[in-house]
Amino acid sequence: MPAIAYKNDRLFVEDVDVAALAKEIGTPFYAYSTSAISKAYENLVAAIAHPRVKIHYAVKANSNIAVIKVLSRAGAGMDIVSGGELKRCLKAGVKAADIIFSGVGKTEEEIGFALKKDIGQFNIESLPEMEILARLAQGMKRRAKVALRINPGIDAGGHAKISTGKEEDKFGINWDQVENAYACVSEIPALEAVGLTTHIGSQITETAPFQNAAARLEDMVKRLRARDLSVQRVSLGGGLGISYRGEKIPVAEFGRLVRGFAERLDCEVELEPGRHLVGEAGILVTKVLYVKRAAAKNFLVVDAAMNDLIRPTLYEAHHHIQPVTRPQDNALETYDVVGPVCETGDYFAKDRQLPITQANDLIALLCAGAYGASMSSTYNSRALCPEILILGRKSAVIRPRLTIEQQLSWENIPNWL
Ligand SMILES: Cc1ncc(COP(=O)(O)O)c(C=O)c1O
Repeated sequence: MPAIAYKNDRLFVEDVDVAALAKEIGTPFYAYSTSAISKAYENLVAAIAHPRVKIHYAVKANSNIAVIKVLSRAGAGMDIVSGGELKRCLKAGVKAADIIFSGVGKTEEEIGFALKKDIGQFNIESLPEMEILARLAQGMKRRAKVALRINPGIDAGGHAKISTGKEEDKFGINWDQVENAYACVSEIPALEAVGLTTHIGSQITETAPFQNAAARLEDMVKRLRARDLSVQRVSLGGGLGISYRGEKIPVAEFGRLVRGFAERLDCEVELEPGRHLVGEAGILVTKVLYVKRAAAKNFLVVDAAMNDLIRPTLYEAHHHIQPVTRPQDNALETYDVVGPVCETGDYFAKDRQLPITQANDLIALLCAGAYGASMSSTYNSRALCPEILILGRKSAVIRPRLTIEQQLSWENIPNWL
């Protein structure tokens, strides 16, 4: 039985009735299944089945400290992109040695803090960044483990805003600069060059782009080793997709690819999946405020908005929408599902066929566990959407609704106004 499914026509997350939860805490809210998160991790580990492959969860996908804890307890390390995410991981009890710091624009303050905590690895994306890391590490008498992020010049397909591996993207060190950069890192006493990393994009639903990235990495490892440079770790990054529209995600094939890669390279292989571990485990629950029948369209105006889930408007992303109570007949109607924010881009679905829906009905947007709550904001002075974690019959508010009163309490009018 899937973790998010109807039981007697009522939507459940594990053993918790979504409508009952909505009554208790109000709408909108995110709800996550702990078991679905653990299972996604365990399935990936089982598909890879190789002792030298280590998974680091990309915290940005869902950075709630309870979610970090679930994955850390399951055995994952963490991949972070800011000092804030580092603090989240430490608060969730993750060992610093299990943390990798990625990101194209780390500040000196963030690098210094990560050095102080002695994190496991810095993924460096430019020579100026390397110089700052070297200077700070030397000053603190530390030796930082460094992997160089390669820009492999690969188009992984998918939406332009989540492509990261093409030469015109801002990420990574260009292919023809990597050998010299790696040799340079290897000569700096405060740095230990441990390997190479890449990340080609997100929501990738076939293995060919990973195969291409692996081939590029393998080529570079051979070049570096031919120069007597040590390469102990190689990361294929994140990017493995989920089934937003019923796509089949080739997890077994991906596992074989990664296993083969680890065998051939004779080194540790790291992965940084985010979406794949948490995306399908979460839903966004929202209430229909109005059914507005306009000249050209029927609109469902719901109480969640683009500030709660920005993916549809930012990436033209598709989220399946399901009524929280299964309708008794099969009649469908076509709707645009929109939020209350004053932007035309504030929509969740356009021309979507849904069961006939009325005001006060609850609907759930599926596959909302990744890049949902972590990208949410308070735009239009809306409350920040709460998050609920569920395990069996247990549920806990892991981020309460941040009310407008709480938001106002940290704003200030200067006394000279
Ligand atoms: C460096 C890096 N690693 C991993 C990820 C996670 O990607 P995904 O959630 O698609 O697995 C990202 C996403 O932007 C990233 O930038």
